[in-house]
Amino acid sequence: MKKACVIGWPIAHSRSPLIHGYWIERHGLNAAYEKVAVRPEELENFLLDLPNSPYRGCNITVPHKEKAFEIIERVNPAGLSPLARKLKAINTVWIEDGRLYADNTDVYGFMANFRSCVPDWSPNTARVLVIGAGGAARAVVAGFLDAGVRSVSVANRTVEKAERLVEELGAQEALPLSDLDAALSRFTVLVNTTVLGMKGQPPLDLSLQNLPEDAIVADIVYVPLITPLLAAARARGLRTVEGLGMLLHQAVPGFERWFGIRPAVTEELHARIAADIEKEDGA
Ligand code: ATR
Repeated sequence: MKKACVIGWPIAHSRSPLIHGYWIERHGLNAAYEKVAVRPEELENFLLDLPNSPYRGCNITVPHKEKAFEIIERVNPAGLSPLARKLKAINTVWIEDGRLYADNTDVYGFMANFRSCVPDWSPNTARVLVIGAGGAARAVVAGFLDAGVRSVSVANRTVEKAERLVEELGAQEALPLSDLDAALSRFTVLVNTTVLGMKGQPPLDLSLQNLPEDAIVADIVYVPLITPLLAAARARGLRTVEGLGMLLHQAVPGFERWFGIRPAVTEELHARIAADIEKEDGA
């Protein structure tokens, strides 16, 4: 039986087993995808032992993405994809010839979902504002730059962190998160990568009034499925991109590596995971 897993700490709420389980069932594979709780101090041994384990690879989630990058950089630097090297964080690991290889598929996941939600979007004239400067922001900024967007601005509560991100990835401009309302008229895409708007967190305090009417608003938060930011954008008649799609699309390259079939992000998969999230959101 072919096996893969997702590791994190805590891991109980990961939806990756539901996603991969759906594809395993759909393709009738003799395969399994499991959750494994790995404490930070166990991460190194887990990864080093992976080639001798029953697993063909794993997904890596919070809080291990950066530390896992450092471990693979040490033991097999040639096994890191260019994007993983740029972001210094990984979420997908596989084994070739007994050695560890890794990629960061969050970038692919975000952009694939974005393009599928707004198929006529063109990077040439886009002016993108990314809110937040953590790991998720890095993936989103890298995705837009890689797609050919020439203007990517980053707004963050701690502006110095945005400045570092802009410099390191080659984005255009860092802004403070406060007093952003008036500046929104300059942007055609706005993406929230912070936890603001997530269940149990305060919403992002931003008026979308000044965004151009053809602007697109995206959120990477997916609990709730429609965040207050997305609801406000819809109320203004703007196009929106939900966070759940990124989670579904980022899983595709890993499944293909481990199980040899490139799976599809279908409406049925979306509905299954959305139903699970609604259960939690209402809980
Ligand atoms: P991730 O890797 O998921 O992106 P992270 O690295 O912890 O998570 O980054 C969290 C982001 O959310 C940061 O941009 C953080 O802003 P700071 O750099 O100023 O800390 C932002 N964030 C978290 N809570 C916030 C809040 N209450 N108000 C504004 N920004 C917040």
